[in-house]
Amino acid sequence: DWTMAEFRQTKIAEIRKQVGDGRVICGLSGGVDSSVTAVLVHEAIGDQLTCVFVDHGLMRQGEAEQVVSLFREHYGIKLVHVNAEDRFLAGLKGVTDPETKRKFIGKTFIEIFEEEAKKIGGADFLAQGTLYPDVIESVSFLGGPSVTIKSHHNVGGLPERMNMKLVEPLRELFKDEVRDLGRELGMPDIFVDRHPFPGPGLAIRIPGEVTKERCDILRKADAVYLEEIRNAGLYNAIWQAFAVLLPVRTVGVMGDGRTYDSVCALRAVTSTDGMTAEIYPFQPEFLANVATRIVNEVRGINRVTYDFTSKPPGTIEWE
Ligand code: XMP
Repeated sequence: DWTMAEFRQTKIAEIRKQVGDGRVICGLSGGVDSSVTAVLVHEAIGDQLTCVFVDHGLMRQGEAEQVVSLFREHYGIKLVHVNAEDRFLAGLKGVTDPETKRKFIGKTFIEIFEEEAKKIGGADFLAQGTLYPDVIESVSFLGGPSVTIKSHHNVGGLPERMNMKLVEPLRELFKDEVRDLGRELGMPDIFVDRHPFPGPGLAIRIPGEVTKERCDILRKADAVYLEEIRNAGLYNAIWQAFAVLLPVRTVGVMGDGRTYDSVCALRAVTSTDGMTAEIYPFQPEFLANVATRIVNEVRGINRVTYDFTSKPPGTIEWE
């Protein structure tokens, strides 16, 4: 029987004891887990922490800027922001296979992280936002052969390769507890309640080739959809909601002209752990309004569909 306030103090003491006067590096993704980890570790050891945000240019609209302003300006945390959009897009050129996208992004992410760690003179510890379900999952992986549906990219190989010890203050927590801890640490709701976002970002929400132009189109459609969800007060009732930009063009009519543009699919699911998921049953009027706004406001999209597939047999992401 403990409170989050006590947990916070206990963890701060533990982190101080573990780290001593060593240096810690933390990879920020913009997600809840790494953000809460960074803020907690910073509270414990201040400037001994440096955060590295490898920005692959595949984030949702406005999120990279939010990460930089929260960490640098609000919390005064030392933050290296690496704008690596060009490098990621160059490597994704011509790539259409989902697993090839994931592997390239994961590998490049680690390479850049290592380069940046070297530039700042290395560190003794790596702080990671590992949660209790991650701990359990990596144990159960040892249980026997399983089929790899998707090779989720994470920074699992980093600590061994870089010869650093791990600081993992969230290892005992579930997602909802991490959110409580974030609130306890005074983090804004927009971070604490944020829907999960895959490491490879928008690259796996653009079936087919990923280009800057398609990323920009998808970011706009996704932002309209999320804005409507927030305005309807539904954001926190949904596990994940996002738009997918399909590699299909269809004919439409706009004013008195013919259009021939891309199709966008909307996805929204409820879930407790992402392992299984149910579609979110929006009112048809809500979806019709989102579709109208997207087609009117986002050049390059002239048709919108809603994905009614649960998981299983579908997966949450399209790739
Ligand atoms: P799926 O699509 O497998 O997604 O039903 C389950 C959950 O995992 C997220 N996801 C990923 N997360 N790297 C990640 O870090 C990935 O490659 C990846 N693929 C899927 C997905 O957003 C959902 O929350």
